[in-house]
Amino acid sequence: MIKYVIVLLAGAIAGGFAGNTIAHRLAEPHQHPRAVMTLMGFHRERLDAASQAGQCATVEAERARIALLQQEIALAFPLTYKQEERFRKSADGLGNVLQSIAAAAPATAATNCPEAKAQFKKMNDSCDDCHKVYDPE
Ligand code: HEC
Repeated sequence: MIKYVIVLLAGAIAGGFAGNTIAHRLAEPHQHPRAVMTLMGFHRERLDAASQAGQCATVEAERARIALLQQEIALAFPLTYKQEERFRKSADGLGNVLQSIAAAAPATAATNCPEAKAQFKKMNDSCDDCHKVYDPE
């Protein structure tokens, strides 16, 4: 009798571990896209605040972070990026906007950046261009 109880318990514990591992495996592929977008959202807030406050050095730093994350979109959504033209255009569009903003930044950017607010809006519109179609929320 005790033998069966031990076998049953061992089975339950092993099953628990296996179930856990499977659940993690299933959740894993979704972690990266989520992480990239969560960080994008975080840095968007900071960029917005710095643009409003005219903190030009922070504006530059936050924009650079978002530009790095933009390059990660294709890695985070490999299939969608490859298969859906609309998605790809939107992702590349954000990259182009960020590049044109960086190219337009004047030499005095560290102390004087009156265009930061308008540039923020332009970038934000570019985020929403994709979210209109692809963000489920
Ligand atoms: C090419 C498409 C695309 C672009 C461009 C894009 N996103 Fe997203 N974003 C998505 C998708 C798809 C999701 C849904 C992610 C998920 O949950 O799998 C998302 C979700 C989000 C979320 C919600 C994350 C969560 O799960 O809580 C935030 C915040 C976000 N994006 C911010 C941004 C910001 C800021 C930008 C621009 C700087 C941006 N995104 C640009 C496609 C895009």
